[in-house]
Amino acid sequence: MADDAGGYADYTFVAEFYDDTPPYAARKDIDFHVEAARESGGPVLEIGCGTGRVLIPTAAAGVEITGLDLSDHMLAICRKRLEQETADVRDRVTLVKGDMRRFDLGREFALVTTPFRPFQHLETVDDQMSCLQTIRRHLKPGGRLILDLFNPSLKFLTDDGASNESGDEPEFTLPDGRRIVRKQRVAKRNYFTQVQECELIYYVTHPDGRKERLVHAFPMRYLFRFEAEHLLERCGFEVESLYANYDKAAFGSKDPGELVFLARKV
Ligand SMILES: C[S@@+](CC[C@H](N)C(=O)[O-])C[C@H]1O[C@@H](n2cnc3c(N)ncnc32)[C@H](O)[C@@H]1O
Repeated sequence: MADDAGGYADYTFVAEFYDDTPPYAARKDIDFHVEAARESGGPVLEIGCGTGRVLIPTAAAGVEITGLDLSDHMLAICRKRLEQETADVRDRVTLVKGDMRRFDLGREFALVTTPFRPFQHLETVDDQMSCLQTIRRHLKPGGRLILDLFNPSLKFLTDDGASNESGDEPEFTLPDGRRIVRKQRVAKRNYFTQVQECELIYYVTHPDGRKERLVHAFPMRYLFRFEAEHLLERCGFEVESLYANYDKAAFGSKDPGELVFLARKV
């Protein structure tokens, strides 16, 4: 099983940059997930909880939440962030190292969430089904899943220029003074497996002027709307809603928008 040594969850050096990276820090999905968690009454299971970007606000809103992630580095940052929280918030959180494709927590949840697309790290239908079936086993009768995906834009998928480094994200500074500018590119595309080899390239300038180029390379599999719908139904879910963004705009009202499913265990 791949973990921080490479593969699916190779967030090794990214973990310490993650919370300061502008598009992650500004991502507008937290209220959506916190509201869903509150409405469910809990407990909630977050798949691929990372540094706790969504998990900590959920616990702070009074909901019991378990976070599962394969990356020791991401979980370590999450634990460090939790140390700054009150004992009440900390008591509502359980963190588990595990693989979303197969885990057994020995309990059921009212809601399972997958904020910011961890499911798209899975490259095969077997892995996707194994993950969804495992999630289903962890849901109470009638419990819900939020499957958070991006909606693939045909324009982007066929853009030859995507293999060049690009991006206009602002520079950001880490607490230790390192300055970072991030670029991105798609190194390889496979239209048959729907897997893109993505690269996020971090140009780091250290306080002493030394420069470094660090590459976070990972596969992402895109899913189309009806494919995801069929997959969910095959794995024992009924799709209740499909949103194009975290304000719950209807799918199709934004181009390309997101692909956010609310599905119920049947
Ligand atoms: C883009 S981050 C999202 C983190 C967090 N949910 C958020 O919204 O900020 C994806 C997370 O999925 C985790 N991940 C990737 N593959 C995984 C797997 N097979 N099992 C569990 N977690 C995995 C990574 O370690 C990473 O923390």
